[in-house]
Amino acid sequence: MFRQSVRRFATTARRAAVTPVPAAKPSAYTLGVSKAQGIAKGLTGAIGNTPLIRLNTLSQQTGCEVLGKAEFMNPGGSVKDRAALYVVLDAEERGQLRAGGTVVEGTAGNTGIGLAHVCRSRGYRLVIYMPNTQSQGKVDLLRLLGAEVYPVPAVAFDNPENYNHQARRHAERLTAEGGEGAAVWTNQFDNTANRRAHIETTGPEIWAQTEGKVDAFTCATGTGGTFAGVTRYLKEASGGRVRAVLADPPGSVLHSYVQSGGQLTERSGGSITEGIGQGRVTDNLAPDVGLVDDSVRVEDGASVNMVYRCLDEEGLYLGASSALNVAAARDVAVQMGPGHTVVTILCDGAYRYADRLFSRRWIESKGLLESIPENLRKYIVLP
Ligand SMILES: Cc1ncc(COP(=O)(O)O)c(C=O)c1O
Repeated sequence: MFRQSVRRFATTARRAAVTPVPAAKPSAYTLGVSKAQGIAKGLTGAIGNTPLIRLNTLSQQTGCEVLGKAEFMNPGGSVKDRAALYVVLDAEERGQLRAGGTVVEGTAGNTGIGLAHVCRSRGYRLVIYMPNTQSQGKVDLLRLLGAEVYPVPAVAFDNPENYNHQARRHAERLTAEGGEGAAVWTNQFDNTANRRAHIETTGPEIWAQTEGKVDAFTCATGTGGTFAGVTRYLKEASGGRVRAVLADPPGSVLHSYVQSGGQLTERSGGSITEGIGQGRVTDNLAPDVGLVDDSVRVEDGASVNMVYRCLDEEGLYLGASSALNVAAARDVAVQMGPGHTVVTILCDGAYRYADRLFSRRWIESKGLLESIPENLRKYIVLP
């Protein structure tokens, strides 16, 4: 009986073997599955290795290769997943965080979301302090991702009640109660593990993806981790050849700092962009600020115009900081002339900002309607 079924199985197997399913022939539309990375070991293994997307229309118009690193494809939806992972790994290595410990950070945006994902996947509690001027949507999102959120009065950095100082004191309290390893304040602005994430991952990825043919890199700074880390790596890999251009929104001091050779930190205007713009040279930016070749200031009109253009021309649904970066990349490409490869960062998607960026009332209230060409106003679908 057993022998019979073995024989029957063997016969079936033989029959199956002689009728193979023909492999599909690659077509012009076949996805590059051979480039897939294999199995990611948990959520943190899925951070990074993002595609570098050629922005076809801008490339054609400038005669350059204008390329955007698709950081919105990280599991938490932004470039800040990389920094979140590195500050947590760094705290683990230093013994500041033991199993079941608590991560505390002051953030209103993507770093909190990245940390929430990383902390859940590695078994840590997360406490977030943020200014109470932030939308309820942000508070709700962080809470549903498992974070404990404290919206506190929005006061300047030199006030001890500023959300960053409150975050630090919270971690100190937990450490005093539970001992070393019970809690860490990850301090994204001045913790250089943030910059290291980009020296060790984003920079090498860009270098490999362009096969060393990158001529310029540009992006805006919040903590400065992305710009500084990528700049450091590309400068070293290229022997100083890659041009580094800092992109700055209105209200940030860094454009004046770079243009004046470090003499001035003038601030003028304000910006609708979120997550970028800076009032000082952070510890993440400081080691590499001497590598910066130039800076460009990008007005909100140009950023919003690029939000709509990227959607219409490239099918890319980008937040305003990404659009500012693309506008800066276009400016750098025009300055350098045809034949160059310019890389920038597509930090996050427009999902969290849709109720502003695509609302007629909001766009008009910011005086930005004129920045959007008539033929693209069909995308303003919200009242
Ligand atoms: C949407 C967005 N773009 C850009 C940045 C800037 O990145 P970095 O902090 O590495 O300078 C941030 C930082 O929070 C961000 O949230």
